[in-house]
Amino acid sequence: MDTRRRQLLIRSSAAAAAAAVGLPTLGAPAERGNPPDLHVELRAEPDRVSLLPGAPTRVWRYKGRLLQGDASALDAGAGGYLGPIIRVRTGQRVRIDLVNGLPESTIIHWHGLHVPDTMDGHPRFAIAPGARYEYDFTVANRAGSYWFHPHPHGRTGKQVYAGLAGLFLVSDDEEAALGLPAGAQDLPLVLQDRTFDADNQFVYLGAGDGDARPTGGGMMGGGMMGGRMGRGMMGGGMGSMMAGMMGVLGDRILVNGSVQDGREVERRAYRLRLLNGSNTRTYKLAWSDGAPLTVIGTDGGLLAAPVRRDYLMLAPAERAELWVDFGRWSPGTEITLRSLAFEGGMNMGGMMGGRAALPDGAAFAVHRFTVGSGPARPAALPQRLSRIEPPQPRQAVNADRPKVFEMTMGMMVWGINGASFDMLGASELETVRLGTQEIWEFRNDGRGSMMGMVMAHSMHVHGLQFRVLGRSVSSRFSDAYATVEDGLVDDGWKDTVLVMPGERVRVLLRFADFPGLFLYHCHMLEHEDSGLMRNYRVEA
Ligand code: C2O
Ligand code: CU
Repeated sequence: MDTRRRQLLIRSSAAAAAAAVGLPTLGAPAERGNPPDLHVELRAEPDRVSLLPGAPTRVWRYKGRLLQGDASALDAGAGGYLGPIIRVRTGQRVRIDLVNGLPESTIIHWHGLHVPDTMDGHPRFAIAPGARYEYDFTVANRAGSYWFHPHPHGRTGKQVYAGLAGLFLVSDDEEAALGLPAGAQDLPLVLQDRTFDADNQFVYLGAGDGDARPTGGGMMGGGMMGGRMGRGMMGGGMGSMMAGMMGVLGDRILVNGSVQDGREVERRAYRLRLLNGSNTRTYKLAWSDGAPLTVIGTDGGLLAAPVRRDYLMLAPAERAELWVDFGRWSPGTEITLRSLAFEGGMNMGGMMGGRAALPDGAAFAVHRFTVGSGPARPAALPQRLSRIEPPQPRQAVNADRPKVFEMTMGMMVWGINGASFDMLGASELETVRLGTQEIWEFRNDGRGSMMGMVMAHSMHVHGLQFRVLGRSVSSRFSDAYATVEDGLVDDGWKDTVLVMPGERVRVLLRFADFPGLFLYHCHMLEHEDSGLMRNYRVEA
């Protein structure tokens, strides 16, 4: 089939899916005609990358090709398997053509971006091998560290684990005026965990799995569990089936898609952009010498002012920006970003599959910085970073009756209020009006327990940035909670929020600009793939 015809077919199947749920079709007609500021082709395809001594590791990765725009907008990154870093400015029109070079369906979600629902990468838009999906949107978000990753039904965990992910960094005038560290001092650190087999291949759900195997979970169809469940049962048996529900943890920490213990840094200020790109693992980040962390940004960009914390929790998909002046350490010092021990994370202790080699909540080193020799070049951190209004919960249409979304566990299936993912479905509770604000409460009270164990979740809402209004935890869980609570940074704009065992988290959401069908789900990817995901519908 020639490319043009294939594109037409894709467009019409996407259009049919959209029409089926009463939504606008692909593309933003008003914008067609003007050339985009940036046009990039992203191919998702199998590759081999040398990560460990010996055999290369089979991965899936995004390869970028600049078709139009400033060459600096597409940064190939520094080795490893991650996709390119895409750098844009607020207000730019971006066109990205996803080409599916994988042996199974895929689609890209722009995590944290405020875009129309046809541009958001919902699994109903997944494209078949060989097909292409054209994204065309205007960057509406403020400056911040956003990212992109696959979102096909039931296969997100597998595809991200195989290597598909990249950063999408937005800048704007407010941020530029601050003169924050730039160039080599603006350093992204994408944190992921992987397990390798003896042949250097990634192990996912019990199988050395760099190779692709097509599954039964198709584009719109597929069973509840997609192809994953069947594979888990055939492949690694019961333990791997459990991991497919509870979450996959690797025993090695990878930074920026490579196995690297650390790097040398100059004696000056750095901006560290952290993304937890792990499938399930949560990090409790701290400096090895006990110095406090200076947090300047979260998911949706800069905070109003820096905050200092002894440690920082970073759940799957969350971002945090740290400001650090390495000049305060003497030349040759090794300072390590560590993850400290905490309780209440995902762990398989005592369960059928046995214990993970590096359990969630275990302590380990993340990345070592060796301070270089030159003279220190001190820099001041601005004490005002950005203008952020305090949240106005009284403006919510349900200010007195927050909607409750409880994480639940049924017969080996996760859910929200007892319901698992339904491709085109959204309940009345999940229906909101365009232009309004609502308060939602994510509850993790224990109805989501499995054999008496309650797990943390990382709740993400597509299509917008929200504000965290408050948290409460039941006294039954307060001991575990005490090991994480000082590391939660709820200031600023968020799209993903850690909900610990026994916790209730209230958020304020605004449904602006775009009607349609969007997702909200747990970003622990095996939870998501096993049903802890639902749609919400924005009605005009
Ligand atoms: Cu980053 Cu629906 O996810
Ligand atoms: Cu979860």
